Amino acid sequence: MSEANQREVSYVFGHSEAEISRLQTQATILRPITERLLHRAGIRPGMRVLDLGSGAGDVAMLAAQLVGPSGCVIGIDRNSQVLSIANARAERAGFKHLSFHEASVETFVDDARFDLVIGRYVLIHQSDPVAFLRAAARLVKPRGSMAFHELRLRDACRSVPNVPLWEMIDRLLRLAFSSAAPHYDAGDRLVEHFSHAGLPEPNLFCETHVFGAADATYYAWAVDTLRVLLPQLQRLGIVAGEFMGIETLATRVRDAVRQAHSQVTFAPQICAWTRT
Ligand SMILES: C[S@@+](CC[C@H](N)C(=O)[O-])C[C@H]1O[C@@H](n2cnc3c(N)ncnc32)[C@H](O)[C@@H]1O
Repeated sequence: MSEANQREVSYVFGHSEAEISRLQTQATILRPITERLLHRAGIRPGMRVLDLGSGAGDVAMLAAQLVGPSGCVIGIDRNSQVLSIANARAERAGFKHLSFHEASVETFVDDARFDLVIGRYVLIHQSDPVAFLRAAARLVKPRGSMAFHELRLRDACRSVPNVPLWEMIDRLLRLAFSSAAPHYDAGDRLVEHFSHAGLPEPNLFCETHVFGAADATYYAWAVDTLRVLLPQLQRLGIVAGEFMGIETLATRVRDAVRQAHSQVTFAPQICAWTRT
Protein backbone atom coordinates (compact mmCIF):
# COMPACT_ATOMS: atom_id res chain seq x y z
CA MET A 1 0.00 0.00 0.00
CA SER A 2 1.36 3.43 -0.91
CA GLU A 3 2.70 5.47 1.97
CA ALA A 4 1.37 8.58 0.27
CA ASN A 5 -2.21 7.56 0.91
CA GLN A 6 -1.54 6.56 4.51
CA ARG A 7 -0.53 10.15 5.25
CA GLU A 8 -3.44 12.33 6.38
CA VAL A 9 -4.20 14.42 3.30
CA SER A 10 -5.45 17.81 4.39
CA TYR A 11 -9.17 17.52 3.70
CA VAL A 12 -10.19 20.70 1.88
CA PHE A 13 -13.69 20.90 3.40
CA GLY A 14 -12.58 20.45 7.03
CA HIS A 15 -15.24 19.43 9.56
CA SER A 16 -16.74 22.74 10.72
CA GLU A 17 -20.41 22.99 11.75
CA ALA A 18 -21.12 24.61 8.36
CA GLU A 19 -19.52 21.64 6.60
CA ILE A 20 -21.47 19.08 8.63
CA SER A 21 -24.72 20.85 7.79
CA ARG A 22 -23.65 21.14 4.10
CA LEU A 23 -23.03 17.38 3.97
CA GLN A 24 -26.62 16.77 5.07
CA THR A 25 -28.12 19.13 2.44
CA GLN A 26 -25.92 17.42 -0.17
CA ALA A 27 -27.00 13.99 1.04
CA THR A 28 -30.69 14.81 0.50
CA ILE A 29 -29.94 15.72 -3.13
CA LEU A 30 -27.66 12.74 -3.79
CA ARG A 31 -29.65 10.04 -1.97
CA PRO A 32 -31.74 8.75 -4.94
CA ILE A 33 -28.59 8.30 -7.06
CA THR A 34 -26.64 6.55 -4.29
CA GLU A 35 -29.66 4.33 -3.63
CA ARG A 36 -29.79 3.28 -7.30
CA LEU A 37 -26.06 2.48 -7.13
CA LEU A 38 -26.48 0.34 -4.01
CA HIS A 39 -29.33 -1.62 -5.63
CA ARG A 40 -27.27 -2.21 -8.77
CA ALA A 41 -24.37 -3.35 -6.61
CA GLY A 42 -26.75 -5.96 -5.16
CA ILE A 43 -27.51 -4.65 -1.67
CA ARG A 44 -30.05 -6.91 0.10
CA PRO A 45 -31.53 -7.44 3.57
CA GLY A 46 -29.14 -9.31 5.85
CA MET A 47 -25.93 -8.08 4.20
CA ARG A 48 -22.82 -6.90 6.06
CA VAL A 49 -21.82 -3.49 4.62
CA LEU A 50 -18.85 -1.17 5.23
CA ASP A 51 -19.13 2.55 4.40
CA LEU A 52 -15.77 4.30 3.84
CA GLY A 53 -15.44 8.00 4.75
CA SER A 54 -18.89 8.21 6.36
CA GLY A 55 -18.83 11.92 7.21
CA ALA A 56 -22.15 12.80 8.88
CA GLY A 57 -23.39 9.24 8.27
CA ASP A 58 -25.94 9.61 5.46
CA VAL A 59 -24.68 6.81 3.18
CA ALA A 60 -24.29 4.41 6.12
CA MET A 61 -27.84 5.20 7.30
CA LEU A 62 -29.19 4.61 3.79
CA ALA A 63 -27.37 1.24 3.70
CA ALA A 64 -28.70 0.39 7.17
CA GLN A 65 -32.25 0.96 5.92
CA LEU A 66 -31.65 -1.25 2.87
CA VAL A 67 -30.03 -4.19 4.73
CA GLY A 68 -32.64 -4.01 7.53
CA PRO A 69 -32.20 -5.21 11.12
CA SER A 70 -31.01 -8.68 9.97
CA GLY A 71 -27.99 -6.98 8.36
CA CYS A 72 -25.18 -4.91 9.78
CA VAL A 73 -23.48 -1.68 8.68
CA ILE A 74 -20.19 -0.23 9.89
CA GLY A 75 -19.18 3.30 8.91
CA ILE A 76 -15.60 4.52 9.27
CA ASP A 77 -14.05 7.97 9.04
CA ARG A 78 -10.70 9.27 10.19
CA ASN A 79 -12.33 12.32 11.78
CA SER A 80 -13.81 11.77 15.26
CA GLN A 81 -15.74 15.06 15.36
CA VAL A 82 -17.89 14.23 12.34
CA LEU A 83 -18.43 10.70 13.65
CA SER A 84 -19.96 11.98 16.89
CA ILE A 85 -22.62 13.69 14.72
CA ALA A 86 -23.08 10.50 12.68
CA ASN A 87 -23.46 8.44 15.86
CA ALA A 88 -26.02 10.83 17.36
CA ARG A 89 -28.05 10.86 14.13
CA ALA A 90 -28.03 7.06 13.84
CA GLU A 91 -29.11 6.74 17.47
CA ARG A 92 -31.94 9.25 16.96
CA ALA A 93 -33.09 7.29 13.89
CA GLY A 94 -33.12 4.09 16.00
CA PHE A 95 -30.57 2.06 13.99
CA LYS A 96 -29.33 -0.75 16.27
CA HIS A 97 -27.41 -2.54 13.49
CA LEU A 98 -25.27 0.49 12.51
CA SER A 99 -22.08 1.62 14.23
CA PHE A 100 -19.33 4.11 13.41
CA HIS A 101 -15.60 3.80 14.11
CA GLU A 102 -12.78 6.27 13.88
CA ALA A 103 -10.32 4.70 11.44
CA SER A 104 -8.64 5.34 8.16
CA VAL A 105 -9.43 2.99 5.30
CA GLU A 106 -5.76 2.06 4.98
CA THR A 107 -5.44 0.70 8.52
CA PHE A 108 -8.98 -0.46 9.37
CA VAL A 109 -9.34 -4.15 10.31
CA ASP A 110 -12.37 -6.11 11.40
CA ASP A 111 -13.03 -9.72 12.50
CA ALA A 112 -14.94 -10.59 9.33
CA ARG A 113 -15.01 -9.33 5.78
CA PHE A 114 -17.95 -7.51 4.16
CA ASP A 115 -20.49 -8.42 1.45
CA LEU A 116 -20.40 -4.85 0.16
CA VAL A 117 -17.92 -1.99 0.63
CA ILE A 118 -19.15 1.46 -0.41
CA GLY A 119 -17.99 5.06 -0.48
CA ARG A 120 -19.36 8.39 -1.68
CA TYR A 121 -17.20 11.41 -2.55
CA VAL A 122 -14.09 9.81 -1.04
CA LEU A 123 -11.83 8.93 -3.98
CA ILE A 124 -11.45 12.57 -5.07
CA HIS A 125 -9.94 13.35 -1.67
CA GLN A 126 -7.22 10.68 -1.75
CA SER A 127 -3.59 11.38 -2.55
CA ASP A 128 -3.50 7.86 -4.02
CA PRO A 129 -6.94 6.55 -5.10
CA VAL A 130 -5.43 3.25 -6.31
CA ALA A 131 -3.90 2.52 -2.89
CA PHE A 132 -7.25 3.46 -1.32
CA LEU A 133 -9.10 0.99 -3.60
CA ARG A 134 -6.57 -1.77 -2.79
CA ALA A 135 -7.04 -1.10 0.93
CA ALA A 136 -10.82 -1.22 0.44
CA ALA A 137 -10.66 -4.46 -1.58
CA ARG A 138 -8.94 -6.41 1.20
CA LEU A 139 -12.05 -5.80 3.35
CA VAL A 140 -14.47 -7.42 0.86
CA LYS A 141 -15.45 -11.12 0.94
CA PRO A 142 -14.62 -13.23 -2.11
CA ARG A 143 -17.47 -12.59 -4.62
CA GLY A 144 -18.44 -9.53 -2.62
CA SER A 145 -19.00 -6.09 -4.19
CA MET A 146 -17.52 -2.60 -4.08
CA ALA A 147 -19.45 0.53 -5.08
CA PHE A 148 -18.36 4.17 -5.34
CA HIS A 149 -20.31 7.36 -6.05
CA GLU A 150 -18.08 10.18 -7.28
CA LEU A 151 -18.58 13.27 -9.48
CA ARG A 152 -17.07 14.98 -12.51
CA LEU A 153 -15.66 18.41 -11.76
CA ARG A 154 -13.70 19.08 -14.91
CA ASP A 155 -16.43 20.56 -17.10
CA ALA A 156 -18.29 23.79 -16.48
CA CYS A 157 -21.83 23.51 -15.10
CA ARG A 158 -23.62 25.62 -17.68
CA SER A 159 -26.69 27.82 -17.35
CA VAL A 160 -28.66 28.37 -20.56
CA PRO A 161 -29.53 31.19 -21.14
CA ASN A 162 -26.31 32.23 -19.45
CA VAL A 163 -26.56 33.59 -15.88
CA PRO A 164 -23.21 35.30 -15.09
CA LEU A 165 -23.69 35.00 -11.31
CA TRP A 166 -24.20 31.23 -11.60
CA GLU A 167 -21.19 30.89 -13.92
CA MET A 168 -19.03 32.79 -11.39
CA ILE A 169 -20.07 30.45 -8.55
CA ASP A 170 -19.38 27.41 -10.75
CA ARG A 171 -15.93 28.71 -11.76
CA LEU A 172 -14.95 29.43 -8.14
CA LEU A 173 -16.11 25.99 -6.98
CA ARG A 174 -14.11 24.20 -9.67
CA LEU A 175 -11.02 26.36 -9.02
CA ALA A 176 -11.13 25.56 -5.30
CA PHE A 177 -11.59 21.83 -5.95
CA SER A 178 -9.05 21.49 -8.70
CA SER A 179 -6.39 23.24 -6.61
CA ALA A 180 -7.07 21.30 -3.41
CA ALA A 181 -8.41 17.83 -4.17
CA PRO A 182 -5.38 15.79 -5.23
CA HIS A 183 -7.40 13.60 -7.63
CA TYR A 184 -10.36 15.78 -8.45
CA ASP A 185 -10.73 13.87 -11.74
CA ALA A 186 -11.11 10.48 -9.95
CA GLY A 187 -14.75 10.32 -11.13
CA ASP A 188 -13.50 10.23 -14.73
CA ARG A 189 -10.79 7.67 -14.02
CA LEU A 190 -12.75 4.97 -12.24
CA VAL A 191 -11.99 2.34 -14.91
CA GLU A 192 -8.27 3.23 -14.75
CA HIS A 193 -8.12 3.33 -10.94
CA PHE A 194 -10.02 0.02 -10.56
CA SER A 195 -7.74 -1.60 -13.14
CA HIS A 196 -4.54 -0.35 -11.45
CA ALA A 197 -5.88 -1.63 -8.13
CA GLY A 198 -6.20 -5.11 -9.67
CA LEU A 199 -10.02 -5.04 -9.60
CA PRO A 200 -12.38 -6.22 -12.36
CA GLU A 201 -13.55 -3.47 -14.72
CA PRO A 202 -16.46 -1.69 -13.01
CA ASN A 203 -20.00 -1.26 -14.29
CA LEU A 204 -20.75 2.44 -14.57
CA PHE A 205 -23.60 4.90 -14.84
CA CYS A 206 -23.82 8.66 -14.79
CA GLU A 207 -26.66 10.97 -13.75
CA THR A 208 -26.83 14.74 -13.87
CA HIS A 209 -29.10 17.11 -11.97
CA VAL A 210 -30.79 19.65 -14.24
CA PHE A 211 -32.87 22.41 -12.68
CA GLY A 212 -34.50 25.82 -13.07
CA ALA A 213 -35.41 28.13 -10.20
CA ALA A 214 -38.10 26.01 -8.55
CA ASP A 215 -35.95 24.06 -6.08
CA ALA A 216 -34.00 26.27 -3.66
CA THR A 217 -31.97 23.30 -2.32
CA TYR A 218 -29.57 23.31 -5.28
CA TYR A 219 -28.64 26.95 -4.75
CA ALA A 220 -28.21 26.42 -1.00
CA TRP A 221 -25.93 23.43 -1.75
CA ALA A 222 -23.78 25.38 -4.24
CA VAL A 223 -23.42 28.44 -1.98
CA ASP A 224 -22.83 26.36 1.19
CA THR A 225 -20.07 24.54 -0.69
CA LEU A 226 -18.58 27.85 -1.79
CA ARG A 227 -18.70 29.14 1.80
CA VAL A 228 -16.77 26.13 3.10
CA LEU A 229 -14.21 26.46 0.27
CA LEU A 230 -13.61 30.22 0.78
CA PRO A 231 -10.41 29.69 2.83
CA GLN A 232 -8.94 27.75 -0.10
CA LEU A 233 -9.89 30.55 -2.54
CA GLN A 234 -8.37 33.09 -0.14
CA ARG A 235 -5.13 31.05 0.03
CA LEU A 236 -5.02 31.15 -3.78
CA GLY A 237 -5.53 34.92 -3.71
CA ILE A 238 -8.69 34.59 -5.84
CA VAL A 239 -11.00 35.93 -3.13
CA ALA A 240 -9.68 38.64 -0.84
CA GLY A 241 -10.91 38.71 2.79
CA GLU A 242 -14.69 38.63 3.10
CA PHE A 243 -16.69 37.43 0.13
CA MET A 244 -19.20 40.19 -0.50
CA GLY A 245 -22.80 39.21 0.14
CA ILE A 246 -22.40 35.46 0.56
CA GLU A 247 -25.34 35.47 2.99
CA THR A 248 -27.70 36.52 0.20
CA LEU A 249 -25.94 34.80 -2.69
CA ALA A 250 -28.21 31.73 -2.87
CA THR A 251 -31.32 33.92 -3.12
CA ARG A 252 -29.70 36.27 -5.65
CA VAL A 253 -28.50 33.55 -7.98
CA ARG A 254 -31.83 31.75 -7.83
CA ASP A 255 -33.66 35.02 -8.64
CA ALA A 256 -31.29 35.60 -11.58
CA VAL A 257 -31.96 32.08 -12.88
CA ARG A 258 -35.70 32.68 -12.53
CA GLN A 259 -35.52 36.02 -14.37
CA ALA A 260 -33.50 34.52 -17.24
CA HIS A 261 -35.76 31.40 -17.44
CA SER A 262 -32.46 29.59 -17.35
CA GLN A 263 -31.78 25.85 -17.14
CA VAL A 264 -28.79 24.83 -15.04
CA THR A 265 -26.87 21.58 -15.48
CA PHE A 266 -24.96 20.47 -12.40
CA ALA A 267 -21.87 18.27 -11.99
CA PRO A 268 -22.39 14.75 -13.41
CA GLN A 269 -22.56 12.06 -10.72
CA ILE A 270 -20.54 9.02 -11.75
CA CYS A 271 -21.20 5.68 -10.07
CA ALA A 272 -19.17 2.49 -10.38
CA TRP A 273 -19.48 -0.99 -8.91
CA THR A 274 -17.79 -4.31 -9.35
CA ARG A 275 -17.60 -7.80 -7.85
CA THR A 276 -14.26 -8.83 -6.40
C1 LIG B 1 -16.90 14.58 1.26
S1 LIG B 1 -17.01 13.68 2.77
C2 LIG B 1 -18.26 12.53 2.28
C3 LIG B 1 -19.05 12.00 3.43
C4 LIG B 1 -20.08 10.95 3.08
N1 LIG B 1 -19.50 9.84 2.36
C5 LIG B 1 -21.22 11.54 2.30
O1 LIG B 1 -21.30 11.35 1.07
O2 LIG B 1 -22.05 12.23 2.91
C6 LIG B 1 -15.54 12.68 2.81
C7 LIG B 1 -15.24 12.05 4.20
O3 LIG B 1 -14.26 11.01 4.00
C8 LIG B 1 -13.32 11.05 5.08
N2 LIG B 1 -12.09 10.42 4.56
C9 LIG B 1 -11.37 10.82 3.48
N3 LIG B 1 -10.34 9.97 3.27
C10 LIG B 1 -10.42 9.00 4.20
C11 LIG B 1 -9.63 7.84 4.50
N4 LIG B 1 -8.58 7.53 3.76
N5 LIG B 1 -10.00 7.05 5.56
C12 LIG B 1 -11.09 7.39 6.31
N6 LIG B 1 -11.86 8.49 6.09
C13 LIG B 1 -11.54 9.28 5.05
C14 LIG B 1 -13.20 12.53 5.44
O4 LIG B 1 -12.76 12.70 6.80
C15 LIG B 1 -14.64 13.02 5.21
O5 LIG B 1 -15.40 13.00 6.41
